Amino acid sequence: MTPLQFVGTVLAVCFAAWATLSKYPVLVRTAREWDINVPPSENATGHLIFQSVSSLLQHWPNARYRNGHTIVPGTVPLGTVLYHGRSDANYPKGPEWTATDPEHSFLFCKRPCWHITVVTTRPLKVLYFDGSSAVKMHGGSMDGQDMLLWGERKTDKVFSEEERLAQLCQWGKEFGLDGFVSEVMLCDFEAGVELVSFLQLANASPGDTKPPPTDGSEPLDPEAVDDSWSGQGPNPAVTIRNFELMHSSSQYNQYPGDTRIQLDLTRLVSFYDPDLAPSLVRARSALKGRWLYDLVQMESQDVDSLHRKLREALLDTTSSSVDWQTLIQVVIKRFGSRLEALRYVLGVSAGGDSSAFAQINIMLTPYIPYGVKPPVAAGDDSPATFAWASSVYKLCSTSHTSYIASAKGVSERMTASEKLLLGAVQDTSTEICRVLVKMWATGVEAGLDEKYWVRRTVDQEHGDRFGTLGKRWLGELDELMAWLDWHMWVKCSPACGDSEMCYMPTWPYFGGPPPGPAAGNLPQESVDGDKPETGNEWERPQPKCIRRIAPYSF
Ligand SMILES: *[C@@H]1O[C@H](CO)[C@@H](O)[C@H](O)[C@H]1NC(C)=O
Repeated sequence: MTPLQFVGTVLAVCFAAWATLSKYPVLVRTAREWDINVPPSENATGHLIFQSVSSLLQHWPNARYRNGHTIVPGTVPLGTVLYHGRSDANYPKGPEWTATDPEHSFLFCKRPCWHITVVTTRPLKVLYFDGSSAVKMHGGSMDGQDMLLWGERKTDKVFSEEERLAQLCQWGKEFGLDGFVSEVMLCDFEAGVELVSFLQLANASPGDTKPPPTDGSEPLDPEAVDDSWSGQGPNPAVTIRNFELMHSSSQYNQYPGDTRIQLDLTRLVSFYDPDLAPSLVRARSALKGRWLYDLVQMESQDVDSLHRKLREALLDTTSSSVDWQTLIQVVIKRFGSRLEALRYVLGVSAGGDSSAFAQINIMLTPYIPYGVKPPVAAGDDSPATFAWASSVYKLCSTSHTSYIASAKGVSERMTASEKLLLGAVQDTSTEICRVLVKMWATGVEAGLDEKYWVRRTVDQEHGDRFGTLGKRWLGELDELMAWLDWHMWVKCSPACGDSEMCYMPTWPYFGGPPPGPAAGNLPQESVDGDKPETGNEWERPQPKCIRRIAPYSF
């Protein structure tokens, strides 16, 4: 293959179907017309659903937004190895947790360290909760489970993992569930799994000088969360074992995440679904920032809808054949890195220039038909409606979804969950396209594209032709990227060195003053007022570089 040949995936398609395809109309928008000046409603949730679904099973985004909003049925394939650490030689009977990686189970392996490895002997049927739903932490990371079991947040049950799991298993019996996932919580260690090994290991969990705990709830080296740590520089009390837990989780930071759990998105339930939880729409409108979104204000009739929707989802048997995760990732791949490049160009050239317009043009090229152009008089008469560009807006917004949304026999087979996902992809694409097409249209009207003759004002011809435009675009783009909030844009910048790893601060290693929220070290207000500390990395985790070899730091 010469370097000039296309590198990538080429799909040869017989275009006999062309005529059929083109007869499907683009989406009919009922709520509003294709007006480029109308932004999404402040209560819109399509982008939140899109972002949370794009993050499923990935460590990075779920450490960033710990409060989950999605519940999805899935399977753990036959032949999957799972781990469990304990301090006695008894094989678990009944519900117990397992870890998908031994670095995690090992932290629960106090001396004597008994470590069990099992393998699934059939696909296990599980229910997945997103967010950091396995962490024993106040502030909402277990809200999804609490709502399902008790219809309210149970602050006093943060550490009652045995009771929680037993009740989940009891509830899940009707649906044949074998377990629940953030870690894999198995309902029965004797159903669907077989022992690979049951060993007392030579090593035991770090710093373990105490007698084995009876409840298994304290996995940590007690010194690792010692609040005498200044938070500055490497902390000698943090061991390789603590770091390696984060290291193994980081393997699943990005899409596709941990594929040992295979989700069925056609049966997904989202707390961002305004139909499921209107009480949360109200609650969110009073909150500043997505970090604060939780489920605590969910009202009882919405808890009833949660049960109804989950039941429908778990018992439903139809679905279309759309691969929703792939569709979502395609939209992200089409725009994610290009929006970032556009942001860079606009940021460095402080005033915009023709390379910003070129970036916009690249993204919109497939949607700009020959002959679409502004009326000759454009630029003279305000206000700018950009009505001439609305066909570009429509095509850009709907090209990924128009067929599945309208084709006979496709949309009819969709489950309620799929319709929610369809709406999420449509809403997200529409806003990306609205902002981009508006930028493009203002650029064309300002004469940035030589293909189009436009009558320029004296200012445009002789003055600072791009200055004001570039600043305006930068503002619009920042707003769009904040609204989309894709986790691919959240990274360590500058990139970490060779001895470091980019890390999203998460349980249980917040550490450092003020007192962290790690097990047994809760700030008083967390316990009493059920409100997290504000203004620190605990509330709004930001990525940072940490050492990946001793001496460690978090
Ligand atoms: C958004 O929701 C809040 C709370 O329900 C409501 O007061 C507000 O009017 C809504 N805004 C729009 C644009 O619908």
